[in-house]
This record gives sequence, C-alpha cells and structure tokens, in this order.
Amino acid sequence: MRTWVEVDLGTVRRNAVAMTSRLQGAAMIAVVKADGYGHGAEAIVAGLVGIADAFAVAGPAEAEAILPHAGGAPVMCLYPLVGDDVRHAVSLGIGVTSSGNSDVTAAEAAAREIGTVARVHVKLDTGMHRHGMTEADAARAVAQCRDSSALELGAVWTHLACADDPADPFTDTQRRRLTAFADRVGVDHGSAHAANSGGALNVGSMGLGAARVGIALYGVYPSPLTRRSVELAPALSWRTLVTRVAPLAAGEGVSYGRTFVANRDMTIATLSVGYGDGYPYAAAGAAEALVRGRRVPVLGSVCMDSMVCDVSHVPGVARGDVVTLIGADGPEVINAADIARWAGTIPYEVLTRIARRVDRMYADDTRDE
Ligand SMILES: Cc1ncc(COP(=O)(O)O)c(C=O)c1O
Repeated sequence: MRTWVEVDLGTVRRNAVAMTSRLQGAAMIAVVKADGYGHGAEAIVAGLVGIADAFAVAGPAEAEAILPHAGGAPVMCLYPLVGDDVRHAVSLGIGVTSSGNSDVTAAEAAAREIGTVARVHVKLDTGMHRHGMTEADAARAVAQCRDSSALELGAVWTHLACADDPADPFTDTQRRRLTAFADRVGVDHGSAHAANSGGALNVGSMGLGAARVGIALYGVYPSPLTRRSVELAPALSWRTLVTRVAPLAAGEGVSYGRTFVANRDMTIATLSVGYGDGYPYAAAGAAEALVRGRRVPVLGSVCMDSMVCDVSHVPGVARGDVVTLIGADGPEVINAADIARWAGTIPYEVLTRIARRVDRMYADDTRDE
C-alpha cells in the first residue's frame, strides 16, 4: 500500500452521540455525501445505525450505495435532481428536495409511473441563494404535496449561509424566515430543519425538529470561529510510506521546477503520496508531515504520486517508515484544518479530496466493548 487512511468508527460514533446531545431532542440527519466526507460512506452509515435518525446525500447514486447499510433509516437527497436522477431517487424510495415547482412535478410524474409515493422535502431559500424556493413557490409546493396521492410532504427546510460564526445575526434571520413560512403554511416546527454542524454547535437545533450534521461527525469543527460546545475528535488519520532516503547537497534543488534549493547539506525522504491521492498541490511551501514523531517540512512541488521532505533532523529515517499526513505520531498532531490552512482551503475540501485509490482501513474500539 502506497498510502492509506485509517478511520476510527468508534470515534465517529462518539462524535455523533456528542452532537445529539446538542440537539435538545431533535433528530439528527447524518450527512454522508461525498463518500462520507472522504471517510467511506458505507462504513460510516453502518457505524451510525441506531444513532443517526436519517441520512443525507447529494444524489441517488450515493443513496444507492448506502441504502443496504442504513438499517431502514430514511435517506434524503439534499439537492435538486435533473433528468433520470429524479426517477432513480423516487424508485429507491428516498426523499427528494424541491428547489422549484418543476422538481415537485417531476417527482410526482416519476412516482405515478413507478406506482409509488414520492417524499418531497420542500426547501425554502431564506437567503443563501444557492438552492431553494421563494415563499410563494414553496407554499405552492407544500400544497402540491398535500393535494397529490403520489406525493408526501417530508419537511420544510433551509440551509444556513453563515452558521459557522456564532456572532453572525443572519443565522437567526434565516431561522425566523423559515419558521414564519412554516407557520404560514401550517407545518409544525418539528417538521422543519435548518442547522448544519456550525448551527448545531453554536445554537443547537434552533427549536426545529432536526439538524443536518456533517463535518462534526468526522470530528472536525467547521471553522475556527465555531463554538467548541462539544468535544469532537478527528476520526481519520492519513498515512504514507518513505520510499527513498537520500542526501541532498547544498545548492541542489528538489522536485519539478526546483522551487526549493538547499542552502545546506540535507537528508531528504521521498513519500509515496501526491496530488493524485488528493494531497493539495497548493500546500507546497508550507506543508509538514510527521516522521518518527517529528515534524518535517515538505520541500518543493507536490507531485502526482510523491513528495519530498527534509528529514535531516530526524535520526534513523529509513525506507518503509510510516509517515503521518493527518493524525498523531508520538507527541505531534496534524489536523485536516492544518493542511487546509497551508493550502488556502477548508478542511471539508481536504477530506473530500482524498482520492479513491487511497485505501480506507477501519478500526472500531466500541464494537469490542
Ligand atoms: C444542504 C446541506 N446541509 C447540511 C450540510 C452539512 O454541513 P456540515 O458538514 O457543515 O455539517 C451540507 C454540507 O455541505 C449541506 O450542503
């Protein structure tokens, strides 16, 4: 194995239980899209059966992969679907999101054709302006669901634009817009949801019936601003191997473009991981890894399948040594948020970009208890 991630399902479960404690009895919809934020959706879903009340994905292909592991829990698609995806979702019996009245009409047509009832989650645009409906269209969608024997109203919901920042008043504006709409169309607040991880960590379930929790399940806080109202632990470690140890003489350069040139004699180690595995190219110049419990800087450009680091200060580094990219090694720890900072991105992107060719290995300390 060139490079692999280790996912601790016990940690995912503990994070999930901690998040439910924030939800004041509201249901937890576990967001497992993008292959469970890079952790492997099937294993995550199987691990969360009995803790999560429902699961959320981006589209029907993701839903189909997790359904056999979901223990019968409801699954919803978070985004509007186009073309064949509508029929696919309805045939799987999963909830679809309406972001326009044509979404409702398409779900109804698919349900009639299949001979089933489509569950529609009506999404209100309360100010993020990415998906969702105007109040007038959403009210029509609610009425459509109530009037049609081929439709069932799932929930009315919205997505928060600024929930990571507890000081941002727009979160409450969005909550008020959603609850005013629910009141207007006679939907109980128990059938509404808005909070994501940031919302749940900062304000809880917001008096609504559910929250859609993603990144917190995996032990990552959405942003440095978000309240650490519960203790979360990262569930994923990312490792690779040293494939070459060599001297580098002062004046010699490293990797494509020789963007790093040694100003002293050094010892360098080549790692079997690169941007083809999802390690960000943009992290070059700032990135670090852990070798034998010590921090080592990454030198020069990140390549597709390899990168080079300076191990001059680490005694005994040898071919085959295990290197940590995310996770702990001795006293040192690197988090997804560190890599995100080095690469000028967010931890969500770091985790979801870990490539499929990186093997996922699972441990579960809670299953043996
Ligand atoms: C509509 C929707 N709900 C919930 C989530 C989960 O967000 P988080 O991972 O911040 O909890 C996402 C994530 O992108 C989303 O798009």
